[in-house]
Amino acid sequence: MGGSEVETAHLGELEDDGLYTPSIKEHSLRKIRLHNHYVSVFSTAMKDKWPQRAYLGLYSGSGRARVAGTGEIVATSAMSAVQVRYPFTKYIFVDNNAHCIAALKARINALGGDHDVSFINEDVSAAVPAIIRRMPPYNSARGLLSFCFVDPFSAKLNFDVFRALGSRYRMDFLVLLMLGRDLRTNFKRYLQDESDTRIADLIADEEWRNEWADRRLQPADLIRFVLEKFGQRMTELGYQETTLDEAHAIRLDHGNVLQYHLVAYSKHPLGLKFWRDARAAGDPQLGFGF
Ligand SMILES: C[S@@+](CC[C@H](N)C(=O)[O-])C[C@H]1O[C@@H](n2cnc3c(N)ncnc32)[C@H](O)[C@@H]1O
Repeated sequence: MGGSEVETAHLGELEDDGLYTPSIKEHSLRKIRLHNHYVSVFSTAMKDKWPQRAYLGLYSGSGRARVAGTGEIVATSAMSAVQVRYPFTKYIFVDNNAHCIAALKARINALGGDHDVSFINEDVSAAVPAIIRRMPPYNSARGLLSFCFVDPFSAKLNFDVFRALGSRYRMDFLVLLMLGRDLRTNFKRYLQDESDTRIADLIADEEWRNEWADRRLQPADLIRFVLEKFGQRMTELGYQETTLDEAHAIRLDHGNVLQYHLVAYSKHPLGLKFWRDARAAGDPQLGFGF
């Protein structure tokens, strides 16, 4: 399936199950479809190669959402990941909203399968030790490959989470970087208020303002700068280099306003091939999206 078909593929309208169902904007459907396609290719291709496969959903949500405007109820990333044709052998979901975790748990239980699932109702940064405790043990005879979807509301995301998990595990990441709606919108404040650590935490560089000044960068350089710095940090952890045009920009349907980028990182070229397949040509939104 090509990228444009993936983005427009129907997610399937669901009945109201009476459980907690937050609202999402219509453009979030494109994110979910891309995630679903990527996870489905990944889980199918890896099922016979790795005896243990873990899926981590950080900022997991409740498993369903109601689309603002249409009122349609759809499965979101967490439920989609659980329902792939060849399920992961372990799932770990983290969300700091107790309503989300309770609803997600009930929805997964209602599927009636025998999925091995851990739920962590905590802030993502604080949850890292709990995640590590719940990850399956592995060794050379019983390998573990993991996929982690990181889907926050904002750019308040600490690179320590990627370092802690990415240095310990063979783990591919799909990350939402809120470069439009948060970083670009609030950039003046993040630059001028030296006590603000949002960008420093994200790119693991407390001195970023010095580099910004030395290179005489302008606000129009912001997205490229952050994508490059974040990518460098991932490369330092052993991830394959990705080019800037592999970051998938999601914009508002009306007005072409950039919201965020979805970026994939893998230690193996195959992981990036899955991502390229998931967002293949034909999509008018492909490109840097600056
Ligand atoms: C963008 S939504 C997630 C959407 C979901 N992944 C999906 O597929 O629709 C972000 C989620 O992160 C949760 N959240 C916000 N801040 C958090 C934090 N610091 N730690 C953990 N979860 C957080 C919210 O409760 C919300 O469910």
